[in-house]
Amino acid sequence: MLNKIGVIGGGNIGGVLVQEIVRRGLAREVGLVDPAPFVNPNDPPERQATAAKQTIAGGKCLDIAEATPVLRMDVRCYGSKDYSALAGAEMVINTAGVPRKARPDGTFPSREELLSINLKVTKQVADGIEAQCPDAMIISIANPLDAIVYTLDNCLNPAKNKLVGMAGVLDSARYCYFVAEAANVSVDNVNAMVLGGHGDTMVPIRSSCLIAGIPVEKFLDAETLAAIETRTRKAGGEVVGLLGIGSAFASPAWSALEMAEAIAYDKRKIMPVCAKLEGEYGVNGLFVGVPAMLGKNGIEEVIELDLTDEEKAAFANSVNAVQKTCNSVDEMLG
Ligand code: 2OP
Repeated sequence: MLNKIGVIGGGNIGGVLVQEIVRRGLAREVGLVDPAPFVNPNDPPERQATAAKQTIAGGKCLDIAEATPVLRMDVRCYGSKDYSALAGAEMVINTAGVPRKARPDGTFPSREELLSINLKVTKQVADGIEAQCPDAMIISIANPLDAIVYTLDNCLNPAKNKLVGMAGVLDSARYCYFVAEAANVSVDNVNAMVLGGHGDTMVPIRSSCLIAGIPVEKFLDAETLAAIETRTRKAGGEVVGLLGIGSAFASPAWSALEMAEAIAYDKRKIMPVCAKLEGEYGVNGLFVGVPAMLGKNGIEEVIELDLTDEEKAAFANSVNAVQKTCNSVDEMLG
C-alpha cells in the first residue's frame, strides 16, 4: 500500500481512478486536482462567488469519502481546485486534458489534434507536480499519449524509470477482448501485446498473441485476425463515436491501475507501457509503447522482443508518427 496517490483531472477517468484506488485500498490517501468549475470574470459577481466555492474535485472526493464506511475502507480522499491536493504524493496519475469528443456530424478528432490545447494543460500539470511532489512516480494517460509523456519529460526531466505512459495495457486489452470474442474463449486465456504509439499506427503484435499458450493462428484465420487488428487500432475512436459525449474512461482507468498496482506491490510484472527509449528498439529520446517490467522503482527494465520483419516495419512506422507529434511539441514549446 502506498501512502498517497495524487490524481490530476477530475473528469470521467479521474473519477473512476479515485473510486478504484479507494475500493482497492491502493493508498492510505488520495488527492484529486481539478480546477473546474472556472470562475468567469465576465459573469455577474454573485455567479462568480458561487463558482469560486464549487469544486468538481472536492465534490467527487467527498461523495466517494462518504461511502468509505460502506466499503469499510480507511482511505482518506479529498480534492482541490489547485495543485495542493498532490502534496507529498508518492505516485501521480495524470489524466488532465480535453478528451476526444464526437462532432455533431458524428466524426471526431484524432488524438494528435488535441495536442495544442492539451500541451498548455500539461505545462500546468508539470508545474504542479514539481511544486507538490517532485519525486513522485508519474503515470500519464492524457492524449496525445506519447507526446504528452514526452512533454512531461521535457518539463520535469525525471529519472527514466519514474515516468511512464499508459496506453499499451489498454490497447492490448482491446486486442485480447476482440480475439476472445471471435475465438469464443475466456478472456482469461488470451495474451497479446500492442506496441508503438497510441494512435492509428499502433502495432498489434500477432506473434505475441496466444490463446492458452497456443499461437492464435490455431484458432482464427488470417482474415479474421487482420480485421481484429484494424479494429484494435481504431478501438478508442469506436467508443468515442458510440458515446457521443467523450472518450473511453473505465478501460483507461483500470489499465492505469494495473500499472499502479504492479508498482505499488513491486510485482515485477511485464506489460506494454509507454517508456523512454534510449537505444532500445533502435529509438533514442522518444516515449513509445514497448514491453517493460514494472516494480517498486517504476520501469525496472525495458524488454526487447524479437519482432517479425513485418512487425518491425509497422513499429518503425508508428515511431515515425510519434516523432512527428513530438516535433510539433518541440516547435510549440519553442
Ligand atoms: C482511448 O484509446 C482515451 O486514448 C484513450 O480510449
